[in-house]
Amino acid sequence: EKVILAYSGGLDTTMIIPWLKENYDYDVVCVCINVGQGNELEGLEERAKLSGATKLYIEDVVDEFVDDYVLPCVKAGAVYENKYLLGTSMARPVIAKRLVEIARKENATAICHGATGKGNDQVRFELGIKALAPDLKIIAPWRIWDVSSREEEIEYCKNHGIDLPFSADNSYSRDRNLWHISHEGLELEDPANAPNYDHLLVLSVSPEKAPDEGETLTLTFEKGIPTGLNGKVMKSSDIIAELNTLGGKHGIGIIDIVENRVVGMKSRGVYETPGGTILMEAHTQLEELILDRATLTCKKEIGNKFADVVYEGKWFTPLREALQAFVNVTQEYVTGEVKLKLYKGNIIKQGTTSPYSLYNESIASFTTGDLYNHHDAEGFINLFGLSLKVRAMKMAAVEAE
Ligand code: ARG
Ligand code: SIN
Repeated sequence: EKVILAYSGGLDTTMIIPWLKENYDYDVVCVCINVGQGNELEGLEERAKLSGATKLYIEDVVDEFVDDYVLPCVKAGAVYENKYLLGTSMARPVIAKRLVEIARKENATAICHGATGKGNDQVRFELGIKALAPDLKIIAPWRIWDVSSREEEIEYCKNHGIDLPFSADNSYSRDRNLWHISHEGLELEDPANAPNYDHLLVLSVSPEKAPDEGETLTLTFEKGIPTGLNGKVMKSSDIIAELNTLGGKHGIGIIDIVENRVVGMKSRGVYETPGGTILMEAHTQLEELILDRATLTCKKEIGNKFADVVYEGKWFTPLREALQAFVNVTQEYVTGEVKLKLYKGNIIKQGTTSPYSLYNESIASFTTGDLYNHHDAEGFINLFGLSLKVRAMKMAAVEAE
């Protein structure tokens, strides 16, 4: 029988290979899914085989990840607990989907992942797999074995003939893709501690180390989707990559959050989302011009709901599809250009334009306008305030009794 292992090449998932063979007598098919984590894929095949795998797949899903998972979140304005741009959460379903596809191709009966028993990722991987392939067995070694240190893992690998140069020192627990990198663990585990940015940051510099000179850029959107940067037509994944470089340089999009995990605990993380933060901000600014008040208010709620659904790993559900359908209708006219300046961790507006802007200067201006008659406001306020006036009169009458 065959098992599909979500494999990164790191110590944890390497150790899982001999462990699966020893405990289940499976043939292990490793699958490394490239969502833009930018690690060395070279030599990975050799490494997997050396560790006892029968086969290694390297799957590039970057564009699928961006187009089908990231952009729906951008359009929805999905932000978890007011801060987290969901970088890890949005990648899990595309990984689960590809694992299932390969499981089918290989006639495998099980899928194995290296997420721990304490986190969100186990939930996301497994809800994804259950939704797409309810018959497949799921194996989560971290919920089964009793391994508690890297030294132990290295020892286990050595005893099973795997002698690879793994370093024994603990670093942050990190997860990276094109949209973000997350950091958890070490000093972050105590919320009383300041984050050690010199040690921690990977995609960006802290704002105080950013250049003294700001940098201006222009993003083009069509129907809520980014289609160009500085006047050049580009595919969305290239735009995000380029924004990561620009944003990282100017210290944009570093957040430090104590979040509520699905499994009930609070957990502290630092996330770098330089490009994503710029993209989300630009998109929001465009919507300010284009969406009417009632739609914007409702969309904010739907966006928060969408964020919860994505965070909880419920991507492959009718609820996510229905929320996304609502969002898509709102994006029909979210087309235009947004100019921004990046400066020491800040994003400063430099002007927004859209052929569908509802902003009407002749109405809004203090000096001009015949479409708006300020005499109309008196009658409007009389009716708008009627219920509270009636109540105040009643209260006064009751008090006088
Ligand atoms: N706390 C974040 C989330 O739940 C990041 C998780 C990072 N995952 C990881 N395997 N290091 O989405
Ligand atoms: C893990 O526990 O595997 C990483 C953190 C998380 O999933 O929340």
